[in-house]
Amino acid sequence: MRKKKNPRPRVLVLHGPNLNLLGRRETSIYGTKSLEAINGEIVSLASELKMDVSILQLNSEGEILDVIQRGEYDALVINPAAYTHTSIAIRDAIAAVRKPTVEVHLSNIHKREEFRRRSYIAEVADGQISGLGSESYLLALRAVRSLLSKRGDIPSL
Ligand code: DQA
Repeated sequence: MRKKKNPRPRVLVLHGPNLNLLGRRETSIYGTKSLEAINGEIVSLASELKMDVSILQLNSEGEILDVIQRGEYDALVINPAAYTHTSIAIRDAIAAVRKPTVEVHLSNIHKREEFRRRSYIAEVADGQISGLGSESYLLALRAVRSLLSKRGDIPSL
């Protein structure tokens, strides 16, 4: 039987460790916008794109794994923060669940310290958006929408 198209895809936006401190943390790198303000922009674009969005900020790697493994989403936008550079476990969970996934970074991880250039997540994500501040999340939302519609999972807008 043909899979029924889901007219309102569920997108999970996952913010990793320390991102709860946005607006106060290293503002010359991450800007002065709070996580709450960024989440507001995400919610409003998601509604424009006719997608249901859930947003979570988690500091612990195990909790991030649990949420990814549950797979209660059609597409994932993830800023794994420092786990980007260390977590084979998050990489493996994304690979196991196999849903359209876009990796996001506020800062340009390729322009900073050497250790930030290595992303374990990039190898299993469909794409990576890095360096555009909160706009990185908004572009990622548009990207997952287009990935889902190319797969035929949702009608195009
Ligand atoms: C970050 C970049 C990471 O290197 C860093 O550890 C973060 C935030 C970003 O959004 O620019 O916590 O993911």
